[in-house]
Amino acid sequence: MITIALAKGRLARETNALLSRCGIIIPEIEDKDTRKLIFTNREAGINVFLSKPSDVPTYVEYGAADIGVVGRDTLLEENRDLYEVLDLGFGKCRMCVCGRPEDAVKLKNSRQIRVATKYPVIAKDYFHNRKFQTVEIIKLNGSVELAPLVGLADVIVDIVETGSTLHENGLDVLETVIPLSARMVVNQVSMKMKEREIKPFIKQIKAVL
Ligand code: PRP
Repeated sequence: MITIALAKGRLARETNALLSRCGIIIPEIEDKDTRKLIFTNREAGINVFLSKPSDVPTYVEYGAADIGVVGRDTLLEENRDLYEVLDLGFGKCRMCVCGRPEDAVKLKNSRQIRVATKYPVIAKDYFHNRKFQTVEIIKLNGSVELAPLVGLADVIVDIVETGSTLHENGLDVLETVIPLSARMVVNQVSMKMKEREIKPFIKQIKAVL
């Protein structure tokens, strides 16, 4: 069996649709009422489980899952030892520095600014290693757009997909950090030990992408 960890939510739904196109049908995943955590398609030799996105790289690194599907944002933030084998092309969005238009100038001068984010590793790497700018990073767990509105931070580093959250709160994209999309990752040992199952599986996915 191949075990696949999926990031709960939209990426899991898109991945399930992709698996269906490969003939691997797991209808129970779509059932909103189910409390089941692991789903199996015996004929295809596939186990699938759903987890919090930030836990997917952990399950794959430790070999509890052979394969994972998760956003590039999570991979960069978690920085685990994994093989990234495919860009699945869905879940496209951008990691951006955002803020009030009048605060754009704060990014230009050398005064230390405060940056709120759910992604401290990505934010730190961007400001310290790419922009050579010293900033104070404040870790938040959600609704990051609030931070500049209530004076917690000067700017935020966050995911922008449609841009509507920013727009509705009077914020703009000030700088783009990195483009994002869903990625398929593989455990390094599984890649060798289960090569005969995993390689054809990846090939099958590639063919329907
Ligand atoms: C994400 C992200 C932005 C929003 C961007 O938040 O952190 O807030 O989506 O999407 P948009 O550009 O289409 O408006 P999420 O919905 O995951 O909630 P959270 O901020 O509470 O984590």
